Amino acid sequence: MKSINPQVATIKESIFSKMTALARVHQAINLSQGFPDFEGPSFIREAIAEASKDHRLGQYAPMPGNPYLLENLGHHYKNQYDLNYSDKEITVTNGATEGIMVTSLALIEPGDEVILFEPYYDSYPVAAELAGAKIKIVTLKGPDFCWDSEELEKAFSSKTKLVYFNNPHNPTGRVFTPAELKELSELVIKHDAYILSDEVYEFLTFENHKHIPIMKLPGMRERTITTGSAGKTFGHTGLKVGWLAASEPITKAIRMVHQFNVFSVNPMAQYAVATGLEHVGTYIPEFQSLYNQKRLLLKEILLEAGFSPCETQGTYFTLVPLPQKAIDLGHTDISYCEELIKKAKIATIPPSVFYRKSQEGTKYLRFCFAKSENLLNKTRVYLKSMLLA
Ligand SMILES: Cc1ncc(COP(=O)(O)O)c(C=O)c1O
Repeated sequence: MKSINPQVATIKESIFSKMTALARVHQAINLSQGFPDFEGPSFIREAIAEASKDHRLGQYAPMPGNPYLLENLGHHYKNQYDLNYSDKEITVTNGATEGIMVTSLALIEPGDEVILFEPYYDSYPVAAELAGAKIKIVTLKGPDFCWDSEELEKAFSSKTKLVYFNNPHNPTGRVFTPAELKELSELVIKHDAYILSDEVYEFLTFENHKHIPIMKLPGMRERTITTGSAGKTFGHTGLKVGWLAASEPITKAIRMVHQFNVFSVNPMAQYAVATGLEHVGTYIPEFQSLYNQKRLLLKEILLEAGFSPCETQGTYFTLVPLPQKAIDLGHTDISYCEELIKKAKIATIPPSVFYRKSQEGTKYLRFCFAKSENLLNKTRVYLKSMLLA
C-alpha cells in the first residue's frame, strides 16, 4: 500500500486527550484540559433552546457566518477596542482551532518561514507544517516568560510569512506589555509578514494587566488576523464557535479555504453566541471576577502545599515549577505529571510538549483553574501529601 502523508505521520495524539484519558483511568481530579467543569451562563443554553424551535436554524448557515453574529462581532470590536470590522472582514469558524488551520492554509506557501513562540498552543506547528512552512522558534524563558530581543530579531528573515502569537498566553499566563507589542509589530512590518493573533483569552486578564489586541498598533490592521473563541469567553467550550477578523483581501482568501473545509458552522450555536454578545456588558465583569477568585484559590492551595507558582497575568492556567525535591530525584515534567496522577490523583499538563527548541518545559507543570471551588479545594489535601512524600 502507498504511504500516508509523512507530514501527518509525525503528528502525535494531543496531550489533552492523553491526560484526560489517564485522569479517567486513575479517577484523578482533572486540572489538565482547559475547560470549566461548572455551569456556564444560562443565557447561552437558553438561546440554543430558543434556536432549536426555529426550523431555519436547522439548515446550513451562510458560509461566512450568521449575519446576526457577524454584526454583533463587529459591535464587539468597536465597543471593546474601538476597531471597525465590517461583515466582509469577519469569518465565523468552527472554534479558534479551525481559524488557526484555515489561516495557515490560506497564507502559507511551501518553503515559507513562520515564527512560533515556545511554549506554543499545540495546533500551531501542526497547521504550519501541513501548509508546508519551515518553523523558527523563539523561547519565552521563565520565570518571567519574556522573549530575548536578539533571538526574536534573528528568527525573522525575508522568508518570514506568518508569526503565530498568543496573547494572553497559554500556558505561561503572560499578558504582553505595550512595549513588547510595539517591538513585535515593528519587526512584523519590517519583514513584511503577517501575524495570527490568537486572543481566545482576551477577557481573562487580572489585576492591572490589560489586553491590547496587536491589530490596534500602527500599521498592523492590514497584517493581523485575529482569532477569538466563544467557547472560552462564554464558558461553553463545546460550542466550537470561533472567528477570524482580518482585512478584506485576507478574509477573502480565508473564506475560500473555510468554504471547502467545514463550509459553515452550526447555526444554533452561532445564534447563541450572537445573543451572548448582547450580554457582555454585565457578563464580562462577573466572568473576570469569578476566574480571579479561582486563580487566587489555586495560588493559595499551591503555596500552602509548598509549591512556588508563577504569576498568572491572564488565561486560566498557572505554570508551577517542579519542586527541588522532584528535580533532585531526577524527575522531568512528564514523569512528575504521571506521579501526580497516580499518587496524588491530580492530572495536570507536562508543558515540554509545547516546546521544540529548549528544555525549559521539563521544569514546569501546567494547572488549569477553570474548575469548581469544590474541586480546587479537593486538590489541597492531595497536593500536600505529594510534596511530603
Ligand atoms: C491558545 C488557544 N488557542 C486556541 C484554542 C482553541 O479554541 P477553540 O476551542 O475555540 O477551538 C485554545 C483552547 O484551549 C487555546 O488555549
